[in-house]
Amino acid sequence: MNLTRLVYYSQRNPSEDLDINSLIETCKRNNPRQNLTGLLHYNGDHFIQVIEGGRVEVSALYHRIARDPRHSNIILLSCTDVRERMFPTWSMALHQGMDAQTRKVFLRYFATDMMNPEAVNVDTLLDVLQDLMMETPTKLTISV
Ligand SMILES: Cc1cc2nc3c(=O)[nH]c(=O)nc-3n(C[C@H](O)[C@H](O)[C@H](O)COP(=O)(O)O)c2cc1C
Repeated sequence: MNLTRLVYYSQRNPSEDLDINSLIETCKRNNPRQNLTGLLHYNGDHFIQVIEGGRVEVSALYHRIARDPRHSNIILLSCTDVRERMFPTWSMALHQGMDAQTRKVFLRYFATDMMNPEAVNVDTLLDVLQDLMMETPTKLTISV
């Protein structure tokens, strides 16, 4: 069974209600059944999500998420086979906000804290997300 990592960017749809806690509850309910894990970063304006798991399961979830009206302008940044998971522990960890510490991590890797999804290097983005997991634990909601 191939292990796949998918990364996408999307923008929050301001005309739809979004309860981020109930969204994470849905992830917590659904993802473990499919052995899916990952990280969702939400800064109030846009999402970056990493989903890891079997190729079929990752693909099915992505297609479901892509139809969700709570966000729009989804850009698939990468979908690739990997040897091991980068975010193996959480059914979907949530990293929220853009506080000073988060901004510092973004500026470590990017020229500004405004990530351009059309130009971003995905490996660099994954470095940012991994550092956020390590360095901003207070901003994390963990769903095991
Ligand atoms: C930004 C974003 C990320 C999402 N991530 C997940 C996810 O990781 N797992 C999941 O099951 N649903 C996720 N959803 C919700 C799905 O689009 C969909 O509403 C949900 O899977 C339906 O599940 P249910 O039939 O159990 O209610 C996400 C939605 C959005 C807007």
